[in-house]
Amino acid sequence: MEIIIRPTPAHAARLVARLVADRVNAQPNLVLGCATGRTMDPVYASLVAFHGTGEVDLSGITTFNLDEYVGLPEEDPRSYHHYMREHLFDPVGLPPERTHLPAGNATDLPEEAREYERRIVAAGGIDLQLLGLGVTGHIGFNEPLSSLMSRTREKALTPETRAQNAGLFGGDPAAVPKRGLTMGVGTILEARSVLMLVTGEAKASVLAAATEGPITARISATALQLHPRCTVVVDEAAASELEGVDYYRFLYAEEPEWAPYRSDPAY
Ligand code: GLP
Repeated sequence: MEIIIRPTPAHAARLVARLVADRVNAQPNLVLGCATGRTMDPVYASLVAFHGTGEVDLSGITTFNLDEYVGLPEEDPRSYHHYMREHLFDPVGLPPERTHLPAGNATDLPEEAREYERRIVAAGGIDLQLLGLGVTGHIGFNEPLSSLMSRTREKALTPETRAQNAGLFGGDPAAVPKRGLTMGVGTILEARSVLMLVTGEAKASVLAAATEGPITARISATALQLHPRCTVVVDEAAASELEGVDYYRFLYAEEPEWAPYRSDPAY
């Protein structure tokens, strides 16, 4: 794992978008694992902008999202299906057959979960998985005590997660669905590379636990410490409780792979 600290959420999100665009430019048929959440809004906005200016052509990618609420139809404006259509799929014109999300309103959820895993395999696996970090330390909807080897399945959401995500549900945590259908931690770990974005002071302590703490099923993001190619991009506020900041700053300032980015004030 490597941690990259940027000054603001905007810098961090633009860097993540640029890293995705560079990967797509190198591999136009990239299989991209997508995440939802407010943290990701500026990433998709930048990607759509890069697509618009021709800096990247996203029309050849295939996507797989991490999760969906159980019981919400695709058309529901609060669903992750809707979020993705609005923020990425429609603006760049991705055809529905190459955009995948688990169907949270499937009648047979265990079968939908197995089928989702089969679809990932059939696409050749996920090349690059984008991740946010939940307040409970979850990735996808892998709430505390999710097996670190778990596969796509239904998962009960914690009260903290339902409160965090209440914004789209009229601010009422009780209106947030009680369950999600989510890729498992084991599914996520099989992505060939992982790029996590974490911004804001509210995530500082859980980010420190996720990246510098011991690996534990209580915080599913700690499993990323086992991934051989995991980059975590954060802003200064989210980095405020990290112990190893001097080393992380040194990586961005000195490592050759970061040279193309550190010379550009946008990142
Ligand atoms: C949600 C999603 C996660 C997301 C996280 C952070 O519950 N299931 O995939 O990363 O919470 O959300 P936000 O970026 O809004 O803080």
